[in-house]
Amino acid sequence: MIFTDEEYLLDGKKILLRSAKEDLTEAQVLVDYLKTVSGETDFLLAYPDEINYTAEGELGFIKDMNESDEKMLILAFVDDEYAGNCSFAQIGSCRRSSHRVDIGIAIFLKYAGFGLGRLMLERMIAKIKEAGFEQVELTVIEGNERAYHLYESLGFKECGKIPDANKYDDGTYRDDIHMVLKL
Ligand SMILES: CC(C)(COP(=O)(O)OP(=O)(O)OC[C@H]1O[C@@H](n2cnc3c(N)ncnc32)[C@H](O)[C@@H]1OP(=O)(O)O)[C@@H](O)C(=O)NCCC(=O)NCCS
Repeated sequence: MIFTDEEYLLDGKKILLRSAKEDLTEAQVLVDYLKTVSGETDFLLAYPDEINYTAEGELGFIKDMNESDEKMLILAFVDDEYAGNCSFAQIGSCRRSSHRVDIGIAIFLKYAGFGLGRLMLERMIAKIKEAGFEQVELTVIEGNERAYHLYESLGFKECGKIPDANKYDDGTYRDDIHMVLKL
């Protein structure tokens, strides 16, 4: 799905939310971003050395997100600089799970903490609702207090944990916490 451009002023900064452009330059920006944000936090799926996407592959991902009726990718720009993205996708392809979507979000560390994540999620949840989905699901890694607080304040409820779902290179473990928002 395409997200039509929206502009906001947040904390004195100009915010642009839009879909990704279908070109290799934008695709490369997204690959570079994934490598950087994965190294800035312990709370994403992979280590930076595991991000092996190519711009060509990422371009396919952008096209899929833009063209599918069950998915959406929203990019955020702060004062014209790329700051991060959020996305949703329908869970599975069968009728019984077709009312559910899962979501993901990551913002560069330098743009965290001034309300951008809240704005992006509020706008994306509104689009999910408009599209007729009934519940939004996500996974947050134990200890990600900022994300957990944000999700809870948007109405998400914790509904279960996978103990020790994440094993880090230093041998420590963290649980996955599942959360759901009924629309
Ligand atoms: C998690 C993330 C999306 C949040 O976006 P953000 O723009 O930084 O968050 P916001 O500024 O919109 O809101 C953060 C909220 O958490 C609160 N917060 C910040 N640090 C906190 C902490 N240590 N404990 C509890 N709450 C905290 C803030 O006060 C704010 O709440 P409020 O609006 O009620 O005051 C972003 O920081 C990010 O991308 N982090 C790295 C990747 C990541 O963790 N992704 C999520 C994976 S599940």
